[in-house]
Amino acid sequence: MTKVFNKKQKIGEIATIFPKATDVFMKYNIDFCCGGDRPLSEAIDEQNINEENLISELNEKYEIFRNEVSQEKDWTQESYTDLIDYIVNKHHSYMKEVLPITTDLVSKILQVHYEESGDVLSKVHSLFNSLRTEIEAHLIKEEEILFPRIKEYEKAPSKSLLDEAIKVMEETENEHDNAGDILKEIRKITNDYEVPSTGCFTFEKTYEKLQNIESDLFQHIHLENNILFERLKRN
Ligand SMILES: [Fe+2]
Ligand SMILES: [Fe+2]
Repeated sequence: MTKVFNKKQKIGEIATIFPKATDVFMKYNIDFCCGGDRPLSEAIDEQNINEENLISELNEKYEIFRNEVSQEKDWTQESYTDLIDYIVNKHHSYMKEVLPITTDLVSKILQVHYEESGDVLSKVHSLFNSLRTEIEAHLIKEEEILFPRIKEYEKAPSKSLLDEAIKVMEETENEHDNAGDILKEIRKITNDYEVPSTGCFTFEKTYEKLQNIESDLFQHIHLENNILFERLKRN
């Protein structure tokens, strides 16, 4: 078997070569969107990850992936416009649908389980609401300002359009870091989304939704930070 990946490579680079590596990163709790710029060895050392298992898992999965006829697109080769449309249709739409539902769930469990879990759930409630507010404004900024600029640049490239797009892009990258930090904080205070024994079905469903939001957002930020923005910066 050819060993394609090693610990010296950057996390985002691995995920760009092999999009499904993000499943392995999720399993090991490795941050591949905001922490994508770091070499894999840093995550291995910091999080005490078994290096051999992780590297062989990545290489084995990649080998299987290469032997399959894959439907997955190589986003490093598609146009900016196609990638942007994909991000908006898949990830922005998902957020617009899931955030309001989860707001209701988070309020509901705070109310029902206040007595036993009030401390944790008050924090989850407050963190989630700031996350929602930030993401909503962020999606609008991307859809109204950033993405149209990039599409315009793709149609008629000019230095001034590129500079303008990169300036907005840098702001949105910082916003990605903030969202990632809030999600990490929620994961930490819920003890990796551990539902207490007193938790009901709604409690479980709420934690499940929050985890779905986390993994979808990480995929979404990965496509923006590591692929779209990286490509744009190379112009
Ligand atoms: Fe986005
Ligand atoms: Fe974004």
